[in-house]
Amino acid sequence: KRRVGILTGGGDCAGLNAVIRGITKSAVNNFDMEVVGFYDGFLGLIEKRFTILTFEMVSGILTQGGTILGSSNKANPFEHRVREGGQERCVDVSEECVALCEDLAMDALICVGGDGTMTIAEKLSRKGVNVIGLPKTIDKDLAETDITFGFDTARTVATEAIDRIHTTAQSHHRVMLIEVMGRNAGWLALEAGIAAGADIVLIPEIPYSIKEIIGVARRRSRFGRQFSIVVVAEGAAPVGGTQTVHRIVKDSPDPIRLGGISHRIATEIEEQTGIECRVTILGHVQRGGTPTPLDRLLATRFAVKAMELVEERCYNHMVAFQGGETVPVPIEKVAGRQRLVPLDSPLIKTARSVGTSLG
Ligand code: F6P
Repeated sequence: KRRVGILTGGGDCAGLNAVIRGITKSAVNNFDMEVVGFYDGFLGLIEKRFTILTFEMVSGILTQGGTILGSSNKANPFEHRVREGGQERCVDVSEECVALCEDLAMDALICVGGDGTMTIAEKLSRKGVNVIGLPKTIDKDLAETDITFGFDTARTVATEAIDRIHTTAQSHHRVMLIEVMGRNAGWLALEAGIAAGADIVLIPEIPYSIKEIIGVARRRSRFGRQFSIVVVAEGAAPVGGTQTVHRIVKDSPDPIRLGGISHRIATEIEEQTGIECRVTILGHVQRGGTPTPLDRLLATRFAVKAMELVEERCYNHMVAFQGGETVPVPIEKVAGRQRLVPLDSPLIKTARSVGTSLG
């Protein structure tokens, strides 16, 4: 029987199970193929841990958050960490991974993930593995695609949270800061901020000034609005300052998440104005739970398209969403690239037009 492999890599998000289900149903129904599911992203490939996905295993998972296969945002066949004699070192185990793909006689390996996953997939493709990428991330920062699945759910969760914080901000006459994820990109903060009517949205693409934030809070106060809503992207940084997340710490192969930039902003506002501030860091709540209908739909469309590409032997491409269609783009155009919010984005214009300060 012909086979196709699938793994879910990087940080999880809503819609992963919808993709696993979509791939399995399409492979079995339309192409009479077997689906090899690797556990915990590339770690399963490295450690030879996999299963054959059956209809029973994927039945009823469309609406479930997380991934039944598990994920890992640390595993990398080209830099696999091993501990020996209390010491950790990185070894390249990619040849073994390639050999496993050959042994399993898979037509292709479908890698579902963000830029880290696409970068590894592209390197594997150069070693002869047929790969297909599927774009997943709440950050929406993958190149070549208008949207990634997982984003809409995170945007919905963040918007609802900001709405709730709005009412308590009003009651207590406070400046409320809500920190959202997004890594080095401001998509999530900007879109949730506009949707929830935030007064200020701070994104990594536009360095913020405390003076401007305080100016907005004071102006609102003069006009009788005794509270302000500030949405802070976790990667936001002050003018002339550096980001506090995803900085590469010396001697560590991993970007270390330091986070909590909004605490620093809140402290500065309180010290300079005496206005009471409160901070809410939404964190992983944005990644969990049931996917929105849009994410279920996107994930299913991506899955079906991936299987079509397998059938057409259109390998080493990522399925992208462009102008309402699912289209293949060469994976090397995606690997190692990040899509930040362009400064001429209509979203930035929209925010400013309705009086939202971008710091
Ligand atoms: O890339 C997805 C993401 O949720 C980012 O928004 C966030 O910075 C990061 O992953 C958090 O990673 P972890 O789950 O390892 O803390």
